[in-house]
Order: sequence, then C-alpha cells, then structure tokens
Amino acid sequence: MTDTEFAREVLAGLRQKQKALSPKWLYDQRGSELFEEITAVPEYYPTRTEDGIFDEALPDLAERFSGAAVAEFGSGSSRKSVRLIEAISPSVYVPIDIAAAFLEEAADGLRTRFLALEVVPQAADFTKATTLPSAFSEASSRLGFFPGSTIGNFDTGGAEDFLRESLKTLGTGAAFLVGADLVKDESVLRAAYDDAGGVTAAFNLNLLTRINRELGADFDLMHFRHEARWNAQRERIEMHLVSALPQTVTVAGEEIAFAEGETIHTENSHKYTVDGFEALAGRAGWRLDRMWTDEKDWFGVFLLTS
Ligand code: TRP
Repeated sequence: MTDTEFAREVLAGLRQKQKALSPKWLYDQRGSELFEEITAVPEYYPTRTEDGIFDEALPDLAERFSGAAVAEFGSGSSRKSVRLIEAISPSVYVPIDIAAAFLEEAADGLRTRFLALEVVPQAADFTKATTLPSAFSEASSRLGFFPGSTIGNFDTGGAEDFLRESLKTLGTGAAFLVGADLVKDESVLRAAYDDAGGVTAAFNLNLLTRINRELGADFDLMHFRHEARWNAQRERIEMHLVSALPQTVTVAGEEIAFAEGETIHTENSHKYTVDGFEALAGRAGWRLDRMWTDEKDWFGVFLLTS
C-alpha cells in the first residue's frame, strides 16, 4: 500500500513543515462529482462567466477553427467542450484527463450525442507532455482547449512549464484556447471558494476520505475544516484543511502529528491580469492572438498561437 505513487506523494507531502498535497489527488470519482457541483453553486462565478464569454466568442472561433482537431486538457465531464464541438465540428476530439473512469463515461456521452464525431480519450496526467493520437497530430488545423481557469491551479513556474509542455504536445502551428480567472475584489474571490452550502468544503475534505480509504489512514473528518485564504502577494486563493485540535493521524503506517490550527495546503487558484497572462504565455513560447472578457472583466478567454 505504501509503494504506490499516491502513497509516496501523500507521505512526502505530510512530512513537510507546511503540509501540502497535490490537487490532482482531489479528483477521484467522488471528487470529480463534487467538483461538477461546485461549478453550479451561486457564489462560484468562473464557470458561468466563462460560459457567457464563449457565447460571444464561439462564432469567431467557428469561422477560424471549423473542422480542426481539438484536444482538451483536464476534460472532466467534457461539459464545456459540447458547445465548442457544436460550433466547430472537429475532425477528432481528444479529451485528456487523469480520472480514467470519469473520462470514459464522458467520452461515451459525447459519442452518443455526436454520432459522427471521432472521440479518442487519453487517460493521462496532462501536466506532462504526452503523445497525442495521430488523428490529432497529423491534422493541419489543431486547437488545444483548456477552460475553467485550471491553469490557475499550477504555481507560477508550473503554469509556465505546462504552457511550454502543451506547445510540445499540440505541436508548433497549433492554437491554444485558455480560460483564466482575473484578479478582482477579495470578497468575491473568497466566497467563490467557500460557498455557504459547503460544497467546496466537502470537495476539499473528500481528499482525507480518499486517503483513509486508499491508504488505510484514520483522519477524523470532524477534526478538520475547510478554509479559503486570499494570498494578496501571490495573487492566489489557497485552499487549506485546518486541524481543529492537536492530533496524531496514522497514514500508511506512519504517524503524522498536527498542532491545533496547523494546515494541509491542498490547492491554489491563481488570478491573473491580462498583461501578466500574456507575459506568462510569451515566456513559454506562445503569442497572444486575441482575448475575450465579460463586462466586469472578471474572467479572460485567451487565444494563443504558435
Ligand atoms: N480551476 C478552477 C478554479 O481554480 C476550478 C477549481 C479547481 C476549483 N479546484 C477547485 C474550484 C477547488 C473550487 C475549489 O477556480
């Protein structure tokens, strides 16, 4: 049980001074479901705002990328790609996601919905460069799709590395459509990541349930609570799991001590300025071709070219 990548990474993360776990482990079956629920809670504006921007942008995108091969990074339920697929009728659609079971389910849904569409799911860690099927790599028009401000969940260096790797994955000449959340008022941001209905809290705490189940750990969920913090200096929301009292938890046979108030840092959600995002993409070899936003400038949809 201790020799899996999950076990090694969890133990390494919990031995650190600031305990931290990689957000990719949040997305087991239950986590993926809860995440879909987050996107519908009233306080969580990014999904709704991005959808509205796509309404505006899709006609232009359709004109430019009609019949292109499309690859989506971290596709989840592929809900967002439905509208992109309707608009541009891609030659092939490659959803890439680490949650394999969820991925197959989503792919089947799309095949049922778009009978003529070739769907080639790829179960992979999209944060690393990966070889896409030839139906994609041999297409003359290639478009990467990375909505939902998932890019904000990397740290700054990680986002740059990802954009560089994605250029390798998609191939020079490809375009990349990336959704990124923008810097705004702190109260709006904090509410979005700590909704009154507790869905985001359940999503964060589910990571402990998963560790209990898969690594034979004994986290008591009554003794940890969810917290969303705005880190102004780094322009990011941080999700933490806070220990409510001094306690010792056993994880894969190892004892991990928590002081009262000590946290496990589970995720970051970076917010960008338009200039900051353009500079970041530029360092990774992409050029900003075009950008769409909403009337409050809350969210940006960036079209990058190479
Ligand atoms: N990438 C999105 C964001 O940062 C969605 C997301 C990822 C999210 N992890 C999350 C939303 C955790 C709420 C909580 O906003």
